[in-house]
Amino acid sequence: MTQIKTLDPSPSADISVSVVGLGHVGLVTALGLAEMGWRVLGTDQDSRKLESIKAGEAPFYEPGLQELLDKHLDSGLFNPLADLDDSISRASVVFLCVGTPQRSNGEADLSQLESVARSVAQRRNDYLLVVEKSTAPVTSAQWIGRTVERYGHSKDRIDIACNPEFLREGTAVHDFLNPDRIVLGVETDRAKDILLQIYAPLDCPKLVTDLNTAELIKHASNAFLSTKISFINMVANLCEATGADVTKVSEGLGLDPRIGRSFLNAGIGFGGYCFPKDIRAFAHIGEVHGVNMSLLRAVEDINLDRVERFIARLRSHLWMLNGKTVAVLGLAFKPGTDDVRESPAVAVARRLREDGANLRLYDPQAGIHARSLLPAEPGRVEYFDDPYKAVQQADAALVLTEWPEFAELDLGRVKKLMRVPILGDGRNVYDPSSVRKLGFEYFSVGRP
Ligand code: UGA
Repeated sequence: MTQIKTLDPSPSADISVSVVGLGHVGLVTALGLAEMGWRVLGTDQDSRKLESIKAGEAPFYEPGLQELLDKHLDSGLFNPLADLDDSISRASVVFLCVGTPQRSNGEADLSQLESVARSVAQRRNDYLLVVEKSTAPVTSAQWIGRTVERYGHSKDRIDIACNPEFLREGTAVHDFLNPDRIVLGVETDRAKDILLQIYAPLDCPKLVTDLNTAELIKHASNAFLSTKISFINMVANLCEATGADVTKVSEGLGLDPRIGRSFLNAGIGFGGYCFPKDIRAFAHIGEVHGVNMSLLRAVEDINLDRVERFIARLRSHLWMLNGKTVAVLGLAFKPGTDDVRESPAVAVARRLREDGANLRLYDPQAGIHARSLLPAEPGRVEYFDDPYKAVQQADAALVLTEWPEFAELDLGRVKKLMRVPILGDGRNVYDPSSVRKLGFEYFSVGRP
């Protein structure tokens, strides 16, 4: 992990930070700020999570997080508290990192943000800066401001800011301490000065905007990255129809610096807690304001279709799925995480099960979480702790998450263990000609 310049042990007597919500964003933010030298209080309504944090156990896997937790419980810079009121009344800056899950119509559910805003309003008398860090649709920060005022705080003693996060799961701690940009949506110079002081140790462009613009930057960033992925997946479909190679198309596109090579990897689509939820919330808020958001609706449709297309490819090799044994390698929504939320790999596995296939599943990290979405059933859905065990007597094996260890598999051994050597590669991990030379019937995404 890159070391950053740590502040003086007591950087500023007037700034004390509280982080409300200690999930993927909140806990990384709290410990990242502690690493920068700030004194940070943290709270979460989930008492089990809070107890685990207090006991020094990071409640989810994220490289570098456990080390920072050990370090800053020890240094005393990070102090987890059970009581929300206490944590708010002892801080001058409160970062709101609570969840903004989606409702069934795709709209973001902002009730947690609203509820904390009311707690802030009722329990504070002196100056407070409230920073929205949760991903929320444009105008939410303005609503937080109105709520805090309406329930008891006068405008001269409160500032609202929006400071979106761009952390990626699996590299969140690194991303927090080495950001490519910091966006600060503010309404006053007072709020701007405090936030610039807090982030002074991080050397990167700092873009100061109004509240609505900052919120839009966050949603637009995720929407744009999702659009790149669905775009290349659409091109991959055409490559499959015409015998062209999508990996070369991505390379050719990426050499144009105006386009860039990243997020042009074709595959079974994007998943995780952020992209699918955020493009729906972004499309929804746009439509509420009368804006034609059909571009993002198409991005989502293309993404949803990835699973069906991949299953259709498998069916074209296996004919019937019912009663066939399929090994699935990879369940996390991407490598480097144990997260299976909206994972396309899990969606493929569930779809196979619906069609009567028996599943032998392996993931280096995510098996334990996948069980809640796809419960084990003896002889029908079985989890293994070794990829070679998972492929035994399989009629087909599918690689659905590009964990580096799958690229290193001894495919000769895999072939011998399988009943029928059909290999489906949902993330273009292997070189088609080398795999076919080994005797596999092989299919991947957008490649001849
Ligand atoms: C994403 C953004 O990258 C972060 O900047 C943002 O802060 C975060 O959402 C958030 O809003 O909290 P993350 O969800 O961790 O981060 O995952 P990504 O690494 O962006 O990948 C998302 C999905 O896209 C994965 O399923 C991945 O497999 C897929 N993907 C990515 C592709 O299918 N092709 C690509 O070329 C790149």
